[in-house]
Amino acid sequence: MTQIKVSLPEEEIPKQWYNVVPDLPAPLPPMLHPGTREPVELPPVLFPTECLRQETSKTRWIDIPEPVRDVYRLWRPTPLLRAKRLEEALKTPAKIYFKYEGTSPPGSHKPNTAVAQAYYAQQDGVKRITTETGAGQWGSSVALGCSLFEMDSTVYMVKASFFQKPYRRVMMETWGAEVYPSPSRQTKSGKAILKADPQSPGSLGIAISEAVEDAMTHDEAKYSIGSVVNHVLLHQTVIGQEAQQQFAAIEEYPDTIIGCIGGGSSFSGLMWPFYHDTVSGKTSKDVEFLAVESTACPSVTKGNYCYDHGDTARMTPLLKMHTLGHMFIPPPIHAGGLRYHGIAPTISVLNDNGVVKTKAYNQIETFEAAMLFARTEGIISAPEPAHAIMAVIDEAVKCRKSGEEKILLFLLCGHGHFDMQAYDDYINNKLEPFKYPKEKIDEAAQELQQLYPWTFE
Ligand SMILES: Cc1ncc(COP(=O)(O)O)c(C=O)c1O
Repeated sequence: MTQIKVSLPEEEIPKQWYNVVPDLPAPLPPMLHPGTREPVELPPVLFPTECLRQETSKTRWIDIPEPVRDVYRLWRPTPLLRAKRLEEALKTPAKIYFKYEGTSPPGSHKPNTAVAQAYYAQQDGVKRITTETGAGQWGSSVALGCSLFEMDSTVYMVKASFFQKPYRRVMMETWGAEVYPSPSRQTKSGKAILKADPQSPGSLGIAISEAVEDAMTHDEAKYSIGSVVNHVLLHQTVIGQEAQQQFAAIEEYPDTIIGCIGGGSSFSGLMWPFYHDTVSGKTSKDVEFLAVESTACPSVTKGNYCYDHGDTARMTPLLKMHTLGHMFIPPPIHAGGLRYHGIAPTISVLNDNGVVKTKAYNQIETFEAAMLFARTEGIISAPEPAHAIMAVIDEAVKCRKSGEEKILLFLLCGHGHFDMQAYDDYINNKLEPFKYPKEKIDEAAQELQQLYPWTFE
């Protein structure tokens, strides 16, 4: 068997990012002020000037600054690989390809935007960046970006992960970050949560509140966010653009594109450029876009599509998105990056208009898929993209039954080298197949209805 690996020369690192906003099938609902219900922008005290500009930009192509492309050279272009051994194990006539982002220094797609945000912050004279992290991939990427552009970083890490993944903390500290378990005693919002529940395991919503408060109350600092908002998602489109070139090189084109979704940045990074091909008529293929989440955090498959806050302490404006409610405390699944209550508003529009389909799996199914992948393809996946592996296996099995020779592409957005506890728990039958209860989703909807009755109009 010959390993099929499509590499690109360094010069092929994209020179522009793609912004999907002008090509969405319906206008993107604006962010709203919770009191006045008037459209608002992201708070300027929190973000670098250029990130704010990109956030509301309707320009389709945005130039990537040369210093950012220069850092991308450390690991980009990333490879496109064909999973032939997995195909054989599944006896499928489908071809399975994956774009692998685990080759970056922190081990995922996250530095594609962390590096850009750090560069723009440095241009504004910022001295320190604050952020939250769930599984640690995002915090590590911010720490790396700040280290390369010579700034300090402060990371609020969801308490459950802080203790589950000590080596992620050490990685961040190696790149110079200060890391606190969230909820922490560093901020008012952290102290308030601890007062109400000293044992709180934390959540991404709480950690965001802490990082935002820290930046708001310190002049030298700005805040950096790892997903959900537009400027972050568009920075990830280097992934899809490279994949397009790699498919062109082998004269193939995917029928189905699959990725996991926490806040939606990695999936958007892969799918947006292919979606652009469909809206601009560059392909006549009716490409299927499939986003995969966890049954423990089924924001899009089960959540309500309405306005909600991005954080627990209601510091952010209201975003129209699929949500489980900003008070959501996730079950303790190992896919920390998929434990966010909301989703990118752009994904919500694409889903609401039938462009993006969604599916959810429990963590036992996804680790089973990740084990098969590790044993056939050698790579140990992070728990988040294991959801995409499970979905691609399902699609490949469907092809076995139907005889269709589909070309399937999925995003392996990170490796799982810091997730050995999760694999150990799977191997020793200690994982639970969490499913978020419907009553909790209804409760969250009632709470939102009380706060903002107009949001369900
Ligand atoms: C490896 C990995 N994959 C996926 C995600 C989910 O985020 P997003 O949907 O923004 O890609 C995360 C988030 O932390 C992550 O670390």
